Amino acid sequence: MSITVTPVSPDFVAEIAGIDLARPLPDTDRETIQAAIDRYAIVVFHGQTLTDEQQIDFARRFGPIHSSAQRARHTSIKHRLASSEIADISNLDGDSRVLAPDAKRRLDWLANRLWHTDASFRAVPGALSLLYAHVVPDEGGDTEFADLRAAYEALPAATRGRIDGLIAEHSIWHSRGQLSVTRYTDEELASLPPVPQPVVRTSPRTGRKSLYVASHASHIIGMPVPDGRLLLMDLIEHATQPRFVHRHRWRRGDLVIWDNRCTMHRARPFDTTLVRDLRRVTTRDESAGLEQAA
Ligand code: OGA
Ligand code: MN
Repeated sequence: MSITVTPVSPDFVAEIAGIDLARPLPDTDRETIQAAIDRYAIVVFHGQTLTDEQQIDFARRFGPIHSSAQRARHTSIKHRLASSEIADISNLDGDSRVLAPDAKRRLDWLANRLWHTDASFRAVPGALSLLYAHVVPDEGGDTEFADLRAAYEALPAATRGRIDGLIAEHSIWHSRGQLSVTRYTDEELASLPPVPQPVVRTSPRTGRKSLYVASHASHIIGMPVPDGRLLLMDLIEHATQPRFVHRHRWRRGDLVIWDNRCTMHRARPFDTTLVRDLRRVTTRDESAGLEQAA
């Protein structure tokens, strides 16, 4: 079996075949996958069979693992998955039953339907996310991805000049607030304070620039809040035009890796009385602060 990389478009999304991700990953295959992520930002593997531990071990080969912030903001519920290195993206409760319509974790999870990039609300944001499908509904529940490199490059030069160097404030409570999901304790609110993030980032790996925006971004530091918010809304609207967007239709056994530093994603609706069990491991973007300081 030898690894193959098949682009879906010239520089956004590739499918990778000829590899069993449950097995120890040879260095050469790791490099092939990393090079594909650098070029295509999103890579898709089909037909994988992974335990949580195997998914975590595979992810670890691409960087240090982020602990899931879910535990910090849901302190009083039973969690289904044992490891804090894996985030439960399912609509299941701690006893593997479909979440009740008004369950707190369900309301929080619905914010995945807003365009975002993972953990941009944390001081160390997400680098790569690896999302693996255990159970998916027959219909609906696709994930859409937007290419923020292409979106940046398509902006008029004057706009690029205006936004280079701007810093946005990101907070998880801002994305939840857009859905009027506000039932958090003071302790939960205090566990994830707002953080500054650049609006334009340069990949330390490829030198390519991209937008860095998300539903977590509430305003621009040093600008009146409404002006900054409108600017962010315009940038997200620009970046999510169909020409920048790829839709992934899930099959059981798919693993999708995306680079949070240069893409956004959002879940699409499905019948949430049916089971959708996806689990995510995210690596830490430890270069973010340095890049911003530079
Ligand atoms: C995520 C996420 C989208 C989806 O795992 O970070 O936003 O379609 N998932 O479940
Ligand atoms: Mn996400």
